[in-house]
Amino acid sequence: MTLRKTETARSPALIDRSLTLELVRVTERAAIAAAAWRGKGQEKSADGAAVEAMRAELERVHISGRIVIGEGERDEAPMLYIGEQVGSGDGPEVDIAVDPLEGTTLCAKNQPDSICVLAMAERGGLLNAPDVYMQKIAVGPNYPPGVVDIDASALDNVRALAAAKGVPVAEITACVLDRPRHGALIEDLRSAGCAIKLISDGDIAGIIHAVNTEDTGIDIYLGSGGAPEGVLAAAALRCIGGQMQGRLILDSAEKRARARRMSITDPDRRYSVGDLASGDVLFAATGVTDGTLLAGVRYRQNAVRTSTIVMRSWSQTVRWITAQHAR
Ligand code: FBP
Repeated sequence: MTLRKTETARSPALIDRSLTLELVRVTERAAIAAAAWRGKGQEKSADGAAVEAMRAELERVHISGRIVIGEGERDEAPMLYIGEQVGSGDGPEVDIAVDPLEGTTLCAKNQPDSICVLAMAERGGLLNAPDVYMQKIAVGPNYPPGVVDIDASALDNVRALAAAKGVPVAEITACVLDRPRHGALIEDLRSAGCAIKLISDGDIAGIIHAVNTEDTGIDIYLGSGGAPEGVLAAAALRCIGGQMQGRLILDSAEKRARARRMSITDPDRRYSVGDLASGDVLFAATGVTDGTLLAGVRYRQNAVRTSTIVMRSWSQTVRWITAQHAR
């Protein structure tokens, strides 16, 4: 029997491909709901609208879904909490990671790159990560494995990357979240002559940009951000390629206990893309505000236009879907 090229390298496709479009409906609906709150300065309302819309649309999808990355623990989130069963219940057993509104502040301030994100994998395919920070490093797919290392200094990493790319360090651009905790990192990178694209929020988009250097000019993502966002970014990288390493920052007994409750036994573990998201993975994101990754929701006289990226690891297909919805 002749195997499709992907079957030799990856696990067989277990998720029905028609679910791809179903996921688009889910992130589209969340984005339309959140868009009503753009620029209103009300983060909670924007997030709440996205959560409610995402949850409602997920109910119509023919899956037996289980939320593994969501809005928090059951006692702190009424919807899309970790462990919640979602979907119509009459489809494949899948795990789901959501960030109904990634960049709530970006949406509230109507700034670029606020997106609604969802990833789906076979049961057990997504790391059940606690809501703590994760150290992250990511580069594009065209480098030898291990060209950068989460345990090396930022300086060594950008030097290694520049050497692999065949350019001086001055021609390397790093994407970093603009946070006081990254002060030393930013200083180190600048002293090496590296250019930095500082982002105010949204490191899922930041990591996707870093592996898509030709279009974005960004060579590497460095720094710490949310661990749930790390899992979602890894789900995207399973589909588009690129290297990423992550390590949970479990700097208190309480966080280590929380991680243990989520079956994380090694607090120092380095996670690769495949450790964070494995098997057949689908990823969808719809723009809320205009951004470099996606256009935001646009209102027309009788219609609403959305822009979505949806991809699947098994086939490595990436689709950009512009949809027009009746108002
Ligand atoms: P929210 O949408 O939950 O506000 O997350 C935005 C974000 O910028 C993420 O992209 C990133 O991983 C995280 O916050 C960083 O956390 P912090 O703002 O605490 O530095």
